[in-house]
Amino acid sequence: MATPPVQVGWVRSKDKSKDPYEEAAVVVHPEGTKSPPGLVHHRPGAPARIVVLVSGSGTNLQALIDAEAADPAFGATIVAVGADRTGIQGLVRAEQAGIPTFALRVKDFAGREEWDRALRDKVAEYEPDLVVSAGFMKLLGPDFLAAFDGRVINTHPALSPSFPGMHGPADALAYGVKITGCTVFFVAGGVDDGPVVAQAAVPVEAGDDVESLHERIKTAERALLVDVVGRLARHGWTIDNRKVTFQ
Ligand code: GRF
Repeated sequence: MATPPVQVGWVRSKDKSKDPYEEAAVVVHPEGTKSPPGLVHHRPGAPARIVVLVSGSGTNLQALIDAEAADPAFGATIVAVGADRTGIQGLVRAEQAGIPTFALRVKDFAGREEWDRALRDKVAEYEPDLVVSAGFMKLLGPDFLAAFDGRVINTHPALSPSFPGMHGPADALAYGVKITGCTVFFVAGGVDDGPVVAQAAVPVEAGDDVESLHERIKTAERALLVDVVGRLARHGWTIDNRKVTFQ
């Protein structure tokens, strides 16, 4: 049976007399052919709804919170922050900003699949246009990704496809590269290997240890993530095979 097409974003109407948010959905078929825009975006006049997933300090989340607060035209609003653990700074940052939070721990479920489905259902309650995994240290499973396919981005502290996994800065340092960086990509089910949205290069400096290198990467990562989320929210996007295009 053919896999159904998935809606992955929306495009603005070229008709300037129309509300710019009365947008048409972009539908991408599994084989990568883009169908003509047809559907009207279901939230005309409103900013894109973002759910952010975190596991730790949440400095990337903070950058998004600050960007939304600083610019009424940012185009995105964080409607919820979710975590896979409690007692983390990322959740505190969200609470301080008045954003609803939730935490779903794998150990509270019968297994990983049950956790994945519960996370899917919880995130779905907030009807996100985009899910941002920002330092979320769990792989999102097939049920979650099927529900939000083409609408989940992640940030990785290395230049994909180099150094995937949990230790990007350490692996780059151990390899001896002189340039590393960060990658924002659409999550496709593998480890840091989905379609690339944007990347930023960061030099490795003499005397760097993992912490100093990771901090330099994170400075670039926060700016990149804010830029990407704003552009996706304001312009919409398509994913054609692996090629991500802002509309
Ligand atoms: C980021 O470098 C992210 O890419 C990595 O963990 C870090 C999270 O930082 N997976 P923070 O929680 O946003 O401060």
